[in-house]
Amino acid sequence: MSFSVAIDGPAGAGKSTIAKEIAKRLGYIYVDTGAMYRAMALYMIRKNIKPDETDKMSLASKEVDITIEYYNGEQLVILNGENVNPFIRSEEVGNMASVSSANKDVRFKLVDLQRQLASKADVIMDGRDIGTYVLPNANIKIYLTASSKVRAKRRYEELTQKGLSCNIEEIEKDIIERDRRDSTREFAPLKQAEDAILIDSSDMSIEQVINTVIKMVNGGNK
Ligand code: DC
Repeated sequence: MSFSVAIDGPAGAGKSTIAKEIAKRLGYIYVDTGAMYRAMALYMIRKNIKPDETDKMSLASKEVDITIEYYNGEQLVILNGENVNPFIRSEEVGNMASVSSANKDVRFKLVDLQRQLASKADVIMDGRDIGTYVLPNANIKIYLTASSKVRAKRRYEELTQKGLSCNIEEIEKDIIERDRRDSTREFAPLKQAEDAILIDSSDMSIEQVINTVIKMVNGGNK
């Protein structure tokens, strides 16, 4: 049986930074499910589908081909044969992903892919519904969060480091709106699983969070 670690939490809590590093240290596969929803959203944007066009989103999700490949340990999302990693990190794509991920057909398609990946290898998978829906039997479940102020500050620093200009208040507003959408949608909303361990990283360093999770994995039942 493969081993699985599920990390859920709101936007900007540091899930991917932490999951990526833990995967490297433990030799697990890192599965970034947000990147899959982002690739799907990119496809919708390219097809000019608007956020309120639910039927078109359902149809689009059925025709699109999304797969995952790994290159030097990095997850590549392949959208209809194209590696779209360079195009999925913008705020535009993130906001569309938050809307289109509420669509049931979009979720069915991607959850299926996520479960297949977890059945084949030891994984650390991050997202919004991993512990509650995708992998309800995950060996370790973590709910990673931080205050919206801290999350906005981290996102701001990440974007300015990349040379992108942005406004910290706008980022915080966006984060709060995204949290609201992700946690109030009808199907598989963002919420802490009953058996998940809560980590609030507002006053923790990346290394402290990583060590906390690794301790849990080592104390687990592998
Ligand atoms: O983690 P992220 O910012 O890359 O995710 C982008 C959006 O995708 C997020 O706002 C909600 C959605 N998402 C989801 O609904 N379920 C997941 N397991 C992962 C992401």
